[in-house]
Amino acid sequence: MAITAKTPSKKQSKSEDPKSALLNFFVDEIKDIYWAEKHLVKALPKMKKAATSIELQEAFATHLEQTQEHVSRLEEVFSLLGEKPQAKKCDAMEGLVQEGESVIEDTEDGSATRDVGLIIAAQKVEHYEIATYGGLAQLAKTLGRADVKEILGTTLSEEKQTDEMLTDIAENNINYEASEEKEEA
Ligand SMILES: [Fe+2]
Ligand SMILES: [Fe+2]
Repeated sequence: MAITAKTPSKKQSKSEDPKSALLNFFVDEIKDIYWAEKHLVKALPKMKKAATSIELQEAFATHLEQTQEHVSRLEEVFSLLGEKPQAKKCDAMEGLVQEGESVIEDTEDGSATRDVGLIIAAQKVEHYEIATYGGLAQLAKTLGRADVKEILGTTLSEEKQTDEMLTDIAENNINYEASEEKEEA
């Protein structure tokens, strides 16, 4: 029992080291995006179900598979850092997903306007992820963790591709179709 007595003081002196403080911050941010990705795994099927066009439904289905992979990659990052996977509630992602739910409530089933709203909501999510992974990949490099940087960079490029794909879907015809729709009296 006496063996564990020294652990807290050891931990404390570690956190006073500025480099460790940065590493702690980094791990905390990983916990935050881990919560966000897991939340998205639950939200994307609802967005897919609500989407009007097959094209957008397929885009959400594809990104759901990628998002499940993003969760696994973060688990790999935790393991590389010698940490247990732990999710820390991300208020920003909760809010962004709520915005998507409001779009579904406020638009007609089967309308192009619904898809326009869903695309914008989804792009706000992607931009949040791009900012997070971009920053964390850079930080991983600063911390001398090229292995972690590479994993985060892979996810970052998938988030960027998804954002571009959503722009393409909007520009191809959904925005135009929605502009032709009349609001129901
Ligand atoms: Fe993601
Ligand atoms: Fe994403």
